[in-house]
Amino acid sequence: MQIHTRIESLRAALASATRIAFAPTMGNLHAGHLSLMQTARAHGDAVVSSIFVNRTQFGPNEDFDRYPRTFKADCEQLAAVGVDHLFAPDEAELYPQAQSYFVQPAARHDEILEGASRPGHFRGVATIVTKLFNIVQPQIALFGKKDYQQLIVIRNMVRELNLPITIIGCDTVRAPDGLALSSRNGYLTAEQRAEAPRLAACLQQLAAAVKAGRQDYAVLETEAAEQLRAHGWQPDYIAIRQQSDLQAPQGNQPLVVVAAARLGSTRLIDNMEIN
Ligand code: PAJ
Repeated sequence: MQIHTRIESLRAALASATRIAFAPTMGNLHAGHLSLMQTARAHGDAVVSSIFVNRTQFGPNEDFDRYPRTFKADCEQLAAVGVDHLFAPDEAELYPQAQSYFVQPAARHDEILEGASRPGHFRGVATIVTKLFNIVQPQIALFGKKDYQQLIVIRNMVRELNLPITIIGCDTVRAPDGLALSSRNGYLTAEQRAEAPRLAACLQQLAAAVKAGRQDYAVLETEAAEQLRAHGWQPDYIAIRQQSDLQAPQGNQPLVVVAAARLGSTRLIDNMEIN
């Protein structure tokens, strides 16, 4: 695997590639990230990943400074799953001056759920992903369903801005007890880690109730939030929404249950499609 810290070096290395499959990350890699790379391997002749902890998608009181940085171990894992090129720039390479042009996602995606809890987050994501797309120029890009709303923002951005990139959404990889793998799981104490699978279990229960025909969504959502609160969580939201756009259910659209909740100071997100 070649490691590139400079845009010019990456571009030169990719000049003759015809099918570039790209999966961007912020590092501290786990099996969820690696599953994207494995899917990328099956789709591209050149597999590219990136590691960049993107300051502009973190709020002022969020975990940018303490976000785990494990570059050496990450490189070993990426090489082992067959990534050809890793782009790992520093901030000066991607933001040589303060960014003053941004990609602003539509309010209907930006101001709900994650966007409502994290103002500016999706603008930061859409902007860095656009920059990375322009640098890597992939034909295919892979994102996890773990970040369901992020995937919707990227899909809509690519469509509305006519970016010639096929977006592939990859299933969430979970620990054996159901907890969705996340770099932020590392913040949990042993006690919190034992409690953490309740989030996925709650979503599973909600999904099963809807599948069984319940349509009193507001009641189900409130009950689930209460259940989490009773076990020490502070939910930001737990909501039954349409898979296509995360709007409130209308008609017979496929649904997904999405949630974000804090356990101590750690904020976890998860979702489950109801298929
Ligand atoms: P990061 O949180 O590092 O995630 C990188 C990619 O891995 C994202 O597409 C995310 O959805 C996926 N991912 C994370 N956990 C997963 C899991 N348990 N199963 C499957 N996929 C998983 O998302 C970002 O970084 C950033 O916002 C980024 C897109 C890189 C822009 O900065």
